[in-house]
Amino acid sequence: MILSSLLVVPLAFPSVFGKLTAGIPGGVLLPRNDTSYLDSLSDNQRELFNYAMTGLDMNFAPPFIFESTRYSAWYAVGLLARNEGDDLAVASQIIQDVISFQYTDPNDLWFGTYQGETTAPTPGDVYAPKECPQAYTSYDLNMGLFVCTSFIIALEEFSNILDPDLVDLMKRSMYNATIGDGYRVGGVDGDNLYPIYSNPWYMRVMSATYVGNMMGDANMSYWGDHWANEAIQAFDKYSTISEFNSGTYTGVSLYALSLWGYMPESSVISSRAADIITKTWETVGQIYNPTLHTLGGPWDRTYGYDLRRYFGILGGHIAGLLGGIADGSAPIPRPLVGCSHYGDAVILALMPLTAKFHDPYVPASVIESLKSLSGPHAYFAQSVSPPFDDEAYPRNYTTWTQDGLSVGGIESDENVVGGPATSQTAYVPASFIWKTDVPEAKDRGRLAWMFHHPTASSISAVVSSTNLTIKYPPSRAFPEHSTTSNIMSFLFSGVYKTTLTQDFLANGTAVYSGLKLTVSGNVASGNRTLVYGQDAINEVSFYNLTYTIPDDLGDEVPTLIWEFEKL
Ligand SMILES: *[C@@H]1O[C@H](CO)[C@@H](O)[C@H](O)[C@H]1NC(C)=O
Ligand SMILES: *[C@@H]1O[C@H](CO)[C@@H](O)[C@H](O)[C@H]1NC(C)=O
Ligand SMILES: *[C@@H]1O[C@H](CO)[C@@H](O)[C@H](O)[C@H]1NC(C)=O
Ligand SMILES: *[C@@H]1O[C@H](CO)[C@@H](O)[C@H](O)[C@H]1NC(C)=O
Ligand SMILES: *[C@@H]1O[C@H](CO)[C@@H](O)[C@H](O)[C@H]1NC(C)=O
Ligand SMILES: *[C@@H]1O[C@H](CO)[C@@H](O)[C@H](O)[C@H]1NC(C)=O
Ligand SMILES: *[C@@H]1O[C@H](CO)[C@@H](O)[C@H](O)[C@H]1NC(C)=O
Ligand SMILES: *[C@@H]1O[C@H](CO)[C@@H](O)[C@H](O)[C@H]1NC(C)=O
Repeated sequence: MILSSLLVVPLAFPSVFGKLTAGIPGGVLLPRNDTSYLDSLSDNQRELFNYAMTGLDMNFAPPFIFESTRYSAWYAVGLLARNEGDDLAVASQIIQDVISFQYTDPNDLWFGTYQGETTAPTPGDVYAPKECPQAYTSYDLNMGLFVCTSFIIALEEFSNILDPDLVDLMKRSMYNATIGDGYRVGGVDGDNLYPIYSNPWYMRVMSATYVGNMMGDANMSYWGDHWANEAIQAFDKYSTISEFNSGTYTGVSLYALSLWGYMPESSVISSRAADIITKTWETVGQIYNPTLHTLGGPWDRTYGYDLRRYFGILGGHIAGLLGGIADGSAPIPRPLVGCSHYGDAVILALMPLTAKFHDPYVPASVIESLKSLSGPHAYFAQSVSPPFDDEAYPRNYTTWTQDGLSVGGIESDENVVGGPATSQTAYVPASFIWKTDVPEAKDRGRLAWMFHHPTASSISAVVSSTNLTIKYPPSRAFPEHSTTSNIMSFLFSGVYKTTLTQDFLANGTAVYSGLKLTVSGNVASGNRTLVYGQDAINEVSFYNLTYTIPDDLGDEVPTLIWEFEKL
């Protein structure tokens, strides 16, 4: 049905706005339009957009790209921006097809969101909705926000070229998506949408603010402002986004914030979004390491360690600001096509379009720090994510950044293991990432890393210029609901033509491809195991160095100290 309708392109969408001299059915030649929307973008943003779209075109398998409603909606907006050949017709069809996958029964908890996986059954007794965060399996309410926010861009930038009937359909679809999002209350029905879940929260603020105004729904506008105030209060505690330092999710939050330029001037979020963008970049500028071309750790939620080996949306922002695709200095994989988390790269069809509301708010000093390292530096930041943190015990971030090395630690005392997303693989409370000394390591394999795999809910990882100290203190914030552990695990990446053997660090000291490490502390005297290849995290195999915490420590806090020196 969908496939065949794609072939019959309605004549209401001829490519008269295309850049090329277009022949429409009937053979009429239309005048050339040399003014492209894309000419309004900065050179770097236009290059990024074109680079991304070239790969996405190759991956477009009608009716969808990556069998995904979300990614297809994003790609459609990119096609509208390019508007060459049959782009407009294809985009219009994709938008209709995406909307045909939207849930329309207001009695369902998942009302208004779009089916994530297009071949999956709808939620029901065969595909049962589960408690959060498993609610992200049979349905995903964030999809509604991802699609709705992209439609905001489509309406604001391209409604002049869209068929009015399609515009009307999009508005009704956005309205349902936003009403459905309104069903979500953190902690109710297993939902986890709290103000500290920054990336969908900022998208919800933008959706309700925009759609409330568009549809004249005062209640929706009220909630858009209300949720904006909650987001601002959460931000203002420490001038940080609660999903702190994430290659992917800091990027999604910035994407959402950049929509402020489309919001009514009287809205709450339009008065603060630019400032939040600025302050967020001030933290990124401190932790990004230009000598490694990646964001240093620690990471609240990460899908990789080197932004040139997986696609993180924040890397797309930096590529849009600085360029660097041709010479490989941009913090995005090269080639982009087929990289780890390539699906998320579809957002590069959107971000260059809203860069006008984002790029001017990145301070010049931050741009400089993204380009080159002024010198070694330490940094301290805080963030708090109730109800997973007690407000009295915020998370403390310490980082050390120098030429060829980034070290980071988080001190956190939460009621879950693995951060608010309860993911032991995404939450990286302590890390090293450094430049190896292997000459043949080029685009891949040039960085090595070590990260601490969290097994306890209370972990103190603190960095100085010489030491990374990791402790498992008893919980003060949630003494009744804490998880303790009898191991401390450290996962090391492999390095080209390098083999670690059982004597690695056995006497307490080792050099691993350019990084000298000395381990001490009461945990280091416990038994240890070292194995490679048992498992993979974020598609990467690792050495697992695990210390058993001795059970005769008495009142001593389990402690392991890594002294480090970049050679
Ligand atoms: C040419 O394209 C631009 C950008 O899409 C549009 O604003 C303009 O109206 C078009 N001009 C003509 C004559 O179609
Ligand atoms: C929006 O939801 C209503 C039910 O409240 C449904 O009748 C309508 O078809 C939906 N609109 C779209 C565009 O799916
Ligand atoms: C107003 O919006 C809130 C948040 O979406 C929703 O819970 C409530 O039902 C709405 N009230 C009305 C009268 O529509
Ligand atoms: C973070 O540091 C503050 C002092 O700045 C301290 O009061 C708090 O307990 C620390 N948080 C954790 C989780 O240890
Ligand atoms: C680093 O740890 C070592 C070993 O515990 C200790 O001697 C040294 O004082 C520490 N240095 C700093 C700066 O904390
Ligand atoms: C520890 O072992 C490494 C080899 O694994 C060796 O190079 C180093 O000299 C040893 N250090 C000490 C203090 O014995
Ligand atoms: C690392 O090894 C330890 C000891 O065998 C094991 O308990 C743990 O699950 C492993 N961690 C990962 C992430 O594979
Ligand atoms: C270390 O392992 C050995 C052999 O498996 C065992 O006998 C010993 O009790 C262990 N020591 C500790 C502190 O766990």
